Amino acid sequence: MTMKPCRVAIEGVSLDLGAAHILRKVDLVLEQGKLTALLGPSGAGKTTLLKVLAGLERPGSGRVRAEDLSWSDASSGLFVEAQARGVGLVFQSYALWPHLSAFENAAFPLRVRRVPESELQERVAAAFDLVRLPLAAQGREPAALSGGEQQRVALARALVYEPALLLLDEPLANLDAPNREALRADIRRLQKRTGVTALYVTHDQNEALAMADSLAVMDGGRIVETGEPRALYERARSALVARFLGARNELRGVRRDGAVVLDCAVALEASIPDGLLDGEAVVALLRPDELELAAPGSGRQGWECMVTSVEFAGDRVRVGLEGEVRLVVDVPARSAPAVGERVVAVARPGYARIYPA
Ligand SMILES: Nc1ncnc2c1ncn2[C@@H]1O[C@H](COP(=O)(O)OP(=O)(O)OP(=O)(O)O)[C@@H](O)[C@H]1O
Ligand SMILES: [Mg+2]
Repeated sequence: MTMKPCRVAIEGVSLDLGAAHILRKVDLVLEQGKLTALLGPSGAGKTTLLKVLAGLERPGSGRVRAEDLSWSDASSGLFVEAQARGVGLVFQSYALWPHLSAFENAAFPLRVRRVPESELQERVAAAFDLVRLPLAAQGREPAALSGGEQQRVALARALVYEPALLLLDEPLANLDAPNREALRADIRRLQKRTGVTALYVTHDQNEALAMADSLAVMDGGRIVETGEPRALYERARSALVARFLGARNELRGVRRDGAVVLDCAVALEASIPDGLLDGEAVVALLRPDELELAAPGSGRQGWECMVTSVEFAGDRVRVGLEGEVRLVVDVPARSAPAVGERVVAVARPGYARIYPA
């Protein structure tokens, strides 16, 4: 099963529902054959953007194009209906027909299109092969399938007519951890194998980082930043994205004589972005694993703090600290301090991201 790869461009798309601006001038390109993850907090507009692509919502302005074909263009009133777009959709809730077998659920898009029986049998079998649904499960109704199996049926149904674009809206959110990991790997594998262009909505940053060729972060109806997952993770251009990707330690300071001087009198080794003026207030952002703990009096420069909480997380421990500043630091479980202990938190050199405050 190979799909006809297709590049999809969203250009200046805005959408209001009632008085609310849900999408605000969204520009986003889904590259042909790539998986783009759309990441953002609840209410950011992710599902709405997906509905715009599927043809389930009509933008008030802007265009959506698939290759050189227009799917919607608010300025001319052009709007291609959902069925005519060839888009496969997978939701968080599996949305299967309860009284149809797994096989008939997956076959449904082909029955609607009046595909001959022998071809239908072949294509459903190929789709089930792709999503790895065991043969024994294919004759059962959804109620007799596990959540993971139901989502595999929904995936097979989305893939069976070889869509130009595959849209996935938090498809793993209802699954337990082992199922989630297995299906995550399978979605990635089948996306690569079929070469289908995909948009994968999630608010789980680990999922997005693990799966995506390209990452788009959305907030308040806008695309805040796009890029390769690793580039965004290591060096987001905006503080909002850095925070969203886990940089929860914030240290305030000011840019002075070409360096960053923090309020707490600790020097920080960091590269300073262009465009910051001397005297301008800055914030340095660090992830919990970008700091380490040292003993007081060890001579290492950092923030003297008291341990206020120790949270066990398996292979590591998350330590809450209070002193001149409040910090959260991840340390290996074996070297965990005790609550009440005094420690020095040291920033690992080179990790801090500096932004205008
Ligand atoms: N029919 C509607 N009328 C008015 N506002 C709506 C309507 N549907 C959605 N919204 C609002 O639009 C905003 C974006 O919703 P959307 O479902 O796209 O968010 P999301 O990013 O998918 O969030 P989540 O991660 O929770 O699924 C939300 O604030 C929501 O309340
Ligand atoms: Mg949503």
